[in-house]
Amino acid sequence: MPRIAPRVAEAIILPSGLSLDNRLIKAAMAEGMAVNSQPSDELINAYAEWAPGGWGALITGNVMVDERHLNSPDDVVATAGDGSLSCWTRWAKAMQANGAAGIVQISHPGRQSPIGAGARGLWAKTVAPSRVPLDLGPGIIACTARKLIFGTPRELEEKEIEDIVERFVSAAKLSHAAGFKGVELHAAHGYLLAQFLSPKTNLREDSYGGTVAKRAKIVVDIIKRIRADVPKPFCIALKINSTDYQGEAGISQMIEHLSLFEMAGIDFLELSGGTYEDPQMMHGKKEDAPQDKPALSARSAAREAFFLDAARSVRAQFPNILLLVTGGFRSRASMEDALASGACDLIGIGRPAAVTTTLPNTIIFNENLEAAAANFKVGPAPVPRLLKMLPMSRIISGGAESKYFRRQIQRIGKGLSPIEPPLAG
Ligand SMILES: Cc1cc2nc3c(=O)[nH]c(=O)nc-3n(C[C@H](O)[C@H](O)[C@H](O)COP(=O)(O)O)c2cc1C
Repeated sequence: MPRIAPRVAEAIILPSGLSLDNRLIKAAMAEGMAVNSQPSDELINAYAEWAPGGWGALITGNVMVDERHLNSPDDVVATAGDGSLSCWTRWAKAMQANGAAGIVQISHPGRQSPIGAGARGLWAKTVAPSRVPLDLGPGIIACTARKLIFGTPRELEEKEIEDIVERFVSAAKLSHAAGFKGVELHAAHGYLLAQFLSPKTNLREDSYGGTVAKRAKIVVDIIKRIRADVPKPFCIALKINSTDYQGEAGISQMIEHLSLFEMAGIDFLELSGGTYEDPQMMHGKKEDAPQDKPALSARSAAREAFFLDAARSVRAQFPNILLLVTGGFRSRASMEDALASGACDLIGIGRPAAVTTTLPNTIIFNENLEAAAANFKVGPAPVPRLLKMLPMSRIISGGAESKYFRRQIQRIGKGLSPIEPPLAG
């Protein structure tokens, strides 16, 4: 009988008091399944399939806080109106029927809201801390795509930023009223909160920029306001890009930001990386890709997980922050390594969860599976050969991954079986 990693199966109590049955978290994956901005029956069906899978928590795909600025036209919006509470309550019930904690990821895309996504009108600009457009890479195709799809954002006024803070708080209140166990603020992957945190996209010189601490103000305000308005054990998690903090200066800025987030009262910090400009959340850092550099460590966690080194650095400075690492985990052994080494406390799983809803029960906790068999690799999403030759190929393949796995979630919602992409090679 194989030994099942005790830590993966161990329950954990978050600082707010919320208890998770185990350490496995279905990561946020935008489903693109809302109808009139509300969770559709098919979306609720998909979560009902994840519910008995054995997950400690299920994090929803990113839910928008402003109907004018969406990630895609099919996003759930937290401010969609009167019908929300009953719909959201059904969603929370379906998701949590077997004991997994349902956590709503709340987000604003800022400059990453494509044209046509949101009720701002075709000619209205996206919004951001500063007028810094996305950079999709060199060349006429990338430049034209960027101009047509995203344009150049306009700078938010201070009172608009205060309104955005209130929208995040309202989204958390709705989540709580519907019975969800918590929210996760999406401050990773280049979305609005990440745009505020980064000195590359936040050039402001007011209350929300100009110093490291002021760049974090919007996030700190949201955390504090939710903490004040929603009673414990409601959980507040935060997802950030570890890779946005590079070099010595970057590390010292990260330490300052994390000190502020810890003081404001987060339950756990999810470490990810990447943006539309460089989708590291899907492939890891470019220099770490297997074709570029063989894995240095023989340990499976080091070979698989994209952001474990960052987790170790954070852990060294912040021993008390609970860490969730997401990206690249593909075996029971790698999770066991990551948890046993103390690098993180929780394991996030994205794409494999979109093709195997019951992954914890069928593979990770399955005592009949030996360690060598307890893996769940998924192949890359297919990309046409011609597109692979473009200079934007990394961006295109990141988009293809999202699109492919989103389709599988949509199939699950329709009662169909998901289709795994074939393993490469
Ligand atoms: C279809 C799809 C949609 C995603 N949507 C989100 C999202 O809404 N919010 C988020 O933080 N990350 C999102 N991600 C990134 C995942 O949460 C995760 O970081 C990424 O898939 C890497 O984990 P994995 O290697 O286990 O797939 C998405 C990924 C996929 C495949």
